[in-house]
Amino acid sequence: MIAIGCDHAGVEMKKAVIEALSEKGFEFKDMGTDGEPCDYPVMAEKVCKEVLAGNCEKGILICGTGIGMSIAANKFKGIRAALCADSFSTRFTRLHNNTNVMCMGARTLGQGLACELAEIFLTTGFEGGRHQRRIDLITEIEKKN
Ligand code: RB5
Repeated sequence: MIAIGCDHAGVEMKKAVIEALSEKGFEFKDMGTDGEPCDYPVMAEKVCKEVLAGNCEKGILICGTGIGMSIAANKFKGIRAALCADSFSTRFTRLHNNTNVMCMGARTLGQGLACELAEIFLTTGFEGGRHQRRIDLITEIEKKN
């Protein structure tokens, strides 16, 4: 199950991602918004809590630029959120950073690209090895600060 949420800027892109990836067998828990204006940190919190509770394996967040969502999501201990705008970074943030939330900008990306990036994010595994050590160091920073 994938948690997905957006603010008012991301509603159409969220619908496109859900539609395209549902056809490929992914299941989504849609945390809103369905269109009413809202504040992106509120939506980021809803999605991150689903991931941290273990109800959803990953999360997708969409706002105008994806930046606000990524800032908010990275405030949660245990969330590693990446702003994704190209296929290389999207693939490598899974391989190397084991990110559990992806953020995208509805005003900066086309819907076709967003659907493609979401599929890359959801189908690429973590490489582990030396990258786990680096993630452990991030967790240490979380604990200390
Ligand atoms: C909302 O207008 C906009 O600020 C928001 O969607 C996002 O881009 C923030 O980072």
